Amino acid sequence: MSIPKKMQTPTEVRAQFPFFQDGQAGIHYLDNAASSQKPSCVIETMHRYYEHEHANIHRGVYGLSERATERYEGVRKQLAAFVHAKRAEEIVFTSGSTESLNTIAFGLVEKLHPGDEILLTVAEHHANLVPWQMVAARTGATIRYIPLTPEYRLDLEAAEKLFSAKTKVFACAHISNVLGVIHPIETLIQAAHAVGAYTVIDGAQGIVHLDVNVQALDCDFYVFSGHKMLGPTGIGGFYGKYDRLCELSPLKGGGEMIESVTLERSTFKGPPHRFEAGTPPIAEGIALGSALDFYAQLDRPRLEAANLALSTQLVAYLRGKQGYRILVPADEKDWVGIVSFHHDRIHAHDFAAFADTQQVCVRAGHHCAQPLMHALGVTATTRVSPYLYNTQEDLDALLQSLEQAESILG
Ligand SMILES: Cc1ncc(COP(=O)(O)O)c(C=O)c1O
Repeated sequence: MSIPKKMQTPTEVRAQFPFFQDGQAGIHYLDNAASSQKPSCVIETMHRYYEHEHANIHRGVYGLSERATERYEGVRKQLAAFVHAKRAEEIVFTSGSTESLNTIAFGLVEKLHPGDEILLTVAEHHANLVPWQMVAARTGATIRYIPLTPEYRLDLEAAEKLFSAKTKVFACAHISNVLGVIHPIETLIQAAHAVGAYTVIDGAQGIVHLDVNVQALDCDFYVFSGHKMLGPTGIGGFYGKYDRLCELSPLKGGGEMIESVTLERSTFKGPPHRFEAGTPPIAEGIALGSALDFYAQLDRPRLEAANLALSTQLVAYLRGKQGYRILVPADEKDWVGIVSFHHDRIHAHDFAAFADTQQVCVRAGHHCAQPLMHALGVTATTRVSPYLYNTQEDLDALLQSLEQAESILG
């Protein structure tokens, strides 16, 4: 049997997305760091599930429910393989990165005490910052932050001095959603483990661009969102080393997460089910499995390289113009092509609103990273984030809209 050829070009990938074929054929969607579009296999799986296959899972003793359970649990296995976890029980389903980070942060409340330190970076998305602030306020722990270098990379010398016996948690994005920089998390995870801290990696952007191997990274937890990785909204999850999962207390109580309940007390199931109270988004979960199947049909390194080539062109264009500050590292090493920029006269929102008139979708604002904006000395940036289906036409449309915006607004 011949092995089917993997998709290698953005044009081939794009053909699998109804979004680009139907009503939105003229749209240049460049806001993928916020959310990706969906291939037809994902949409069809959801459609088919609701038309023919729906029943609640984990409880039915009839075939329909058992089949739905099998498929949902099958996706847990797929996810475990996708991130190279040791076993499926190390994958917890949640609604996405935000819920995952809250589950982990609040799950550690009993482990944190006054005087303990939680080490973050100034470049975190609010989802990896606000829950820790809430947990710090509740436990008396203190938060410390790793700063950036002028090169928009984490300052490893400063980081070295921040790890100490007081550090109980180290939580950091794998890839910054604003800067597109891949942080050197292997080094930081090692430093955190050397002082006995839990390591939490916000992989919301990492899993989108990289072949994540949680065992090689040796992190305790790695979180992700389905909707950024070609899957539906409302589903995501996190990986946790099994022993570490056993140390977390559950954030939510209810059906499905218990072993037994009396009027006085309840006992909980082991991981992962103890973190999954209530009926989950079943259709979304099963369709996330189809997104993973889709990834298996892609030559991801080649498509990522095509992606990066578009971003490099954009950076070259911006560097050739007056008035721009481009928030990307000087070289492409460990950078995935998310381009944030600031113009000294044109506000980011004006750029984005103008681009919209040309059917170009880019994001403007603080990107849920206000402390990072503060550290960079800006209030907002325009962010362009291509993905595997973006083509030269998308970039050309963007460059044209930038050119026009400058002549009209500048
Ligand atoms: C780095 C990072 N962390 C966390 C999140 C939150 O993801 P979600 O809104 O899917 O929970 C995002 C979303 O943009 C992100 O980019």
